[in-house]
Amino acid sequence: MKNKIKILVTGCAGFIGYNLCKKILKNDKFVVYGIDNLNNYYDIKLKYKRLSLLKNKNFKFFKFDLKDKKKILSNVKSYKYNYIFHLAAQAGVRYSIENPQKYFDSNITGYFNLLEACKIFKPKLIFLGSSSSVYGDQNSFPIKENSNTDKPMSFYAATKKCDEIMSYSYAQIYKLKIVCLRFFTVYGPYGRPDMTPYSFIKNHYKGKSIKVFNQGKHQRDFTYIDDTVNTLYDLLSSYISRKNVILPYETINIARGKPEKLKVYIKEIEKNLQNNLKKIYVERQPGDVEKTYACIKNIKKKINYKPKINVNLGIKYFVDWYKNYHNKK
Ligand SMILES: NC(=O)c1ccc[n+]([C@@H]2O[C@H](COP(=O)([O-])OP(=O)(O)OC[C@H]3O[C@@H](n4cnc5c(N)ncnc54)[C@H](O)[C@@H]3O)[C@@H](O)[C@H]2O)c1
Repeated sequence: MKNKIKILVTGCAGFIGYNLCKKILKNDKFVVYGIDNLNNYYDIKLKYKRLSLLKNKNFKFFKFDLKDKKKILSNVKSYKYNYIFHLAAQAGVRYSIENPQKYFDSNITGYFNLLEACKIFKPKLIFLGSSSSVYGDQNSFPIKENSNTDKPMSFYAATKKCDEIMSYSYAQIYKLKIVCLRFFTVYGPYGRPDMTPYSFIKNHYKGKSIKVFNQGKHQRDFTYIDDTVNTLYDLLSSYISRKNVILPYETINIARGKPEKLKVYIKEIEKNLQNNLKKIYVERQPGDVEKTYACIKNIKKKINYKPKINVNLGIKYFVDWYKNYHNKK
């Protein structure tokens, strides 16, 4: 472990966290430490499965909740991380309407506790997992990082905006360096069961209908998981090699930069399942935004960024993975 670069990934049993750990562990110069409370927001077996795939001499896992200030403080004190990816959060827009307290606890208190620990044992850089939801409903596309983020449409979005503001103040006052990564609808193998395409395909195999919100008129900048974690890895490498100057505070859109209509996305799933999904068309739900479409000029300036996986291929990879993972024909 000596002389290796120490990376902390919070939310390491989660979808993006797990895939990022896997990517970083391919390079032996890193040692990865993961924190996760393994909550049961969705199927816990999937989280254990992801963790089992991270077994590696350069990976160490800690199970605790970031709400526990003493634990995070003593953990950061013991390991003095060089870089941190903070990906632990209560995710999901719709659930934040039912249970805002969970979002407050994990996304605001949990992140505050991490910042407090980092204020003392300063890492070189913190990457914060933020979200495109901070943009709310925009009417000018593609959405640039300096667009207005004052009108969150859900409490989830409000907690992410709060994280960004806390980051800004800690960067100014305590000289931390923080990059806010605004993710746009990430999908792919080992993805989240509460999100499409997972939730649609699960319903299909149960013989249930899927709810097509906003009559399928939604547009989303769907971003494949490998493109996402490769981008995070390249960003990390560029900061380590000082190809990118580390500013105290930055925000970066992490997206494919190409919106797709939900209807088109559903057609692609049906093509790969060789079956039609049973659909119930419903109105737009509270918290939902109509369209996400990111400007990706900023990330392109920082790294050689070329998203490789379009929706056709991404959905194919996901359906193949789903069938294999769930033993479906
Ligand atoms: N997947 C997406 O499309 C997407 C889009 C925008 C933003 N994000 C953000 O990216 C990050 C990762 O998302 P994901 O899709 O991997 O979600 P995920 O739910 O799969 O992963 C989050 C992980 O954090 C853990 N966690 C939650 N609260 C915790 C706490 N208080 N202490 C310790 N661990 C805790 C959970 O157990 C889970 O394993 C989150 O911040 C999410 O809000 C994701």
